[in-house]
Amino acid sequence: MTASSPLWPAPFHHFRLNSDRPEALVDFYTRGLGMTARERGDGLWLLSGAGRRFLVGRGARETVSYAAYALDDPARLDDLQRHLEGQGIGIEPNPSPLFGNAAFAIRDPDGLPLVFGVPADDPVAAGGLPGRLQHIVFATTDPERIRRFYADRLGYAVSDKVFDDGALSACFFRSDEEHHSYAAFRADAARFDHVAFETTGWMDIRDWADHFGALRVPLWWGPGRHGPGNNLFFMVRDPDGNRVEISAELERMPRSMPHREWPHEEHTLNLWGRAWMRS
Ligand SMILES: [Fe+2]
Repeated sequence: MTASSPLWPAPFHHFRLNSDRPEALVDFYTRGLGMTARERGDGLWLLSGAGRRFLVGRGARETVSYAAYALDDPARLDDLQRHLEGQGIGIEPNPSPLFGNAAFAIRDPDGLPLVFGVPADDPVAAGGLPGRLQHIVFATTDPERIRRFYADRLGYAVSDKVFDDGALSACFFRSDEEHHSYAAFRADAARFDHVAFETTGWMDIRDWADHFGALRVPLWWGPGRHGPGNNLFFMVRDPDGNRVEISAELERMPRSMPHREWPHEEHTLNLWGRAWMRS
């Protein structure tokens, strides 16, 4: 962790998910996540619900255009930009309509644009069960390169590392006291892995599962409890196969708390049993 980075706190705020049939995703997230959709034109929809908002755009299926993290203060945003420039990181214009002028983007080693900004408006509808947008995860061929970038250069704190035969196979990063707002798993290619919505407790997990059951959306993994983060979870898949996680009880860690280490095995990823192993 770079203690001097002005990043902290910067919770995950929104992202843009693409599809060659965005109407199918808009329909799924409207019904499945209880979100209100507003078409913005040029093939872009803003979806908002209780504590959650993101964009669905026309583009290649199962791709994410950017992940956006919110800072609460324009002065700290300026400090962060200077800190990143000092790290030799190129600054790009903000691609997100949700952050206005007080925002900029950078690219991580896998080419993912990360946007940092002060929210311009915060359109949050009241609909749906509790579940605020909380973290996003990507697969990568080189988790150690990702760790060096996010931890050593950006200033994310490492919460947990998973090792496979001495090599880093997964790494969890926090940008506020919640266990992770971003994570990376080793896989055979860099790609979007999943997005997660944090609820208020176990009974919400039940209610969400009943809700998806009524919609005939089967649970894809879980319910279970992750080792890193200690959160209760299950996942479903949207019509393109993107994985959506419903979570509860995610661990909180102060900024200075040291990371922990885990073996690469099913029990780590699901303390209750079977796990989705990316590698
Ligand atoms: Fe997750």
